[in-house]
Amino acid sequence: MHLGKVMVVFGTRPEAIKMAPVIKELKKVDDIKTVVVVTAQHREMLDQVLHLFAITPDYDLDLMQRRQDLYSITSGVLQGMQGILEQEKPDLVLVHGDTTTTFAAALAAFYQKIPVGHVEAGLRTHNKYSPFPEEMNRTLTGRLAELHFAPTDQARENLLAESVAGYKIWVTGNTVIDALMETVRADYEFDSKLAGINFNQRLLLVTTHRRENWGDKMRDIYQALLRLVDDFADVEVVFPVHMNPTVRDLATEMLGGRERIHLLEPLDYEPFANLMNRSCLVLTDSGGLQEEAPSLGKPVLVLRDTTERPEAIQAGTVKLTGTSEEHIYRAAHMLLSDTNAYEQMARAINPYGDGKAAIRIVKVIKDFLYVRIGAQI
Ligand code: UD1
Ligand code: UDP
Repeated sequence: MHLGKVMVVFGTRPEAIKMAPVIKELKKVDDIKTVVVVTAQHREMLDQVLHLFAITPDYDLDLMQRRQDLYSITSGVLQGMQGILEQEKPDLVLVHGDTTTTFAAALAAFYQKIPVGHVEAGLRTHNKYSPFPEEMNRTLTGRLAELHFAPTDQARENLLAESVAGYKIWVTGNTVIDALMETVRADYEFDSKLAGINFNQRLLLVTTHRRENWGDKMRDIYQALLRLVDDFADVEVVFPVHMNPTVRDLATEMLGGRERIHLLEPLDYEPFANLMNRSCLVLTDSGGLQEEAPSLGKPVLVLRDTTERPEAIQAGTVKLTGTSEEHIYRAAHMLLSDTNAYEQMARAINPYGDGKAAIRIVKVIKDFLYVRIGAQI
């Protein structure tokens, strides 16, 4: 029995990584037609993931422009989605997380009264401007959504506090753990692109990209890295630099050509996740890394003033350092010099899932489509 059509829409690297397990699971269900739409808010960094997980989009809006702004992404997604939705008439549109693609695609579906399923729903800092614009992207998507897939109990609580009906929320775990478990292997061998890294040294894995950190905050972060490398001769920084030119220009200016600092192109997810597994410490302002590293037993210093992912902080494997040079330097210095402090943080915990989130999400979608057909007969 044909249950209906599900349109999965995403546009950036992390959305693709986290939606890949859901697409794989949806495609196993013969009774559901799955249509994949990429906005390509990211291009190269999205294509890396599509290639790794062998996803061929049915539609590609090819939106990315160099140094794009929020207005062009939002209007591009809205206008691009209009025709695709009119043509395909899906029974459900599935979006992920908190990007501008997420919000604009959910809004586009709402304009045609198509129900929206929100994967990774309910994370909140309760600060409108941090992360910016992601906090509002996620909150507004939550207002539009019909099905809320919350990764944790805390996320469910956040939604309930905003009067989302309990029967519309499912705690599924985060699909990033599904992707990670498929990808990390103890015997993984790195290719020649990483040949310059000395894997016998202690590796600090670094990523930065958040809009609210652009400028002086990012300078402070990079300054702290310089001090750490000066202090510890057995430490190397490995920093696959986001393609955003604002980030790239500053990273190159401050960290380029420095001894034991490796500025790399964005890595494919497979080498990146395995590199995280070999690293000693993760310093990042990324959302996804805060979820992945704890499950690999890697301490994380979060280079942000707020986080919508408090679970690993409560479990003690993640610390929110803020962005001041001194705070980051001191927190990392302590972990690199005090074995006890390090061991206390380096425990594998999994508050974000058990690797079966996608299976749970697809089960709910099947039930939803089944009930919907019943209502139409
Ligand atoms: C976007 C999301 C952010 C998410 C992040 C993940 C918004 C507003 N921001 O931020 O929530 O955490 O992705 O990485 O939705 N670029 C390339 N090639 C790429 C990707 C980006 O050249 O494959 C460059 C382009 O010049 C582009 C710029 O990076 O204009 C910024 O991309 P954009 O998606 O606007 O912002 P991100 O900082 O990547
Ligand atoms: N990632 C990757 N290659 C890299 C850096 C990160 O594949 O060079 C992965 C990482 O494992 C995580 C995701 O990209 O799954 C995080 O993306 P990003 O930090 O850009 O976005 P955020 O999670 O902050 O939205």
